[in-house]
Amino acid sequence: MRAIFDHVAPRYDLMNDLMSFGTHRLWKREMVAILNPQRGQRLVDVAGGTGDIAFLSLPRLLPEGSGGAVGAVVCDASEKMLAVGRERALDRGVLCGIEWVCADALALPLRDKSADLYTNGFGLRNVTRIGGALSEAYRVLRPGGRFLALEFTPQVAPVLQAPYDFYSFQVLPLIGEIVAGNRDAYLYLADSIRRFPSQSALTEMIAAAGLERVKFRNLMGGVAALYSAWRL
Ligand SMILES: C[S@@+](CC[C@H](N)C(=O)[O-])C[C@H]1O[C@@H](n2cnc3c(N)ncnc32)[C@H](O)[C@@H]1O
Repeated sequence: MRAIFDHVAPRYDLMNDLMSFGTHRLWKREMVAILNPQRGQRLVDVAGGTGDIAFLSLPRLLPEGSGGAVGAVVCDASEKMLAVGRERALDRGVLCGIEWVCADALALPLRDKSADLYTNGFGLRNVTRIGGALSEAYRVLRPGGRFLALEFTPQVAPVLQAPYDFYSFQVLPLIGEIVAGNRDAYLYLADSIRRFPSQSALTEMIAAAGLERVKFRNLMGGVAALYSAWRL
């Protein structure tokens, strides 16, 4: 898994824009709007990749001129994805406020109850044990803390299924080959989406990890879903 993301890292953001026609940006904006980060809160963005969710949240977590304070911790298993994120931070003039940590979602190097907000954008599909990652989310969140995850879903609205399958298994791998030089990574993406738990199954897994008030909302006819829960 790490090798896949290490390989596609330099083209990851471009691929995201191309293959989703920019829609992933809208989903992430919606996620952060619902997250509603507040000044002084600490966000842990797990499988945070090149930092999209942290960049969107940071202005709300830290007022301008907060010195060396850290508002967001981006944890990701791929050092190369994090390196692209650090570069993007420099390009945006974000010199502090985000900590970039190479770590496994199943063993976060964070204290119990140390985060106000936990986010995971398109990362749960990639971990070896989803339940383990959810237990880590519960562990690091303080009581009252918020959990939000974005993920693709295995089934879309029936009317969309045929074009969606064609796009996933024919078009995406081709774009992956041309743009990122990695057809297999994008075939893996389509496969992993089909094998991922349904919205109701993932909702149950989130609740089984101890998180409460679990809800999900479908995005774009159920192509993706946004999961919300709290540690109470
Ligand atoms: C599809 S990308 C999502 C990146 C970012 N959250 C976004 O939405 O653009 C999935 C990320 O999960 C990371 N990843 C995969 N397995 C992981 C694990 N076990 N622990 C932490 N990160 C992992 C990959 O390195 C990759 O950066």
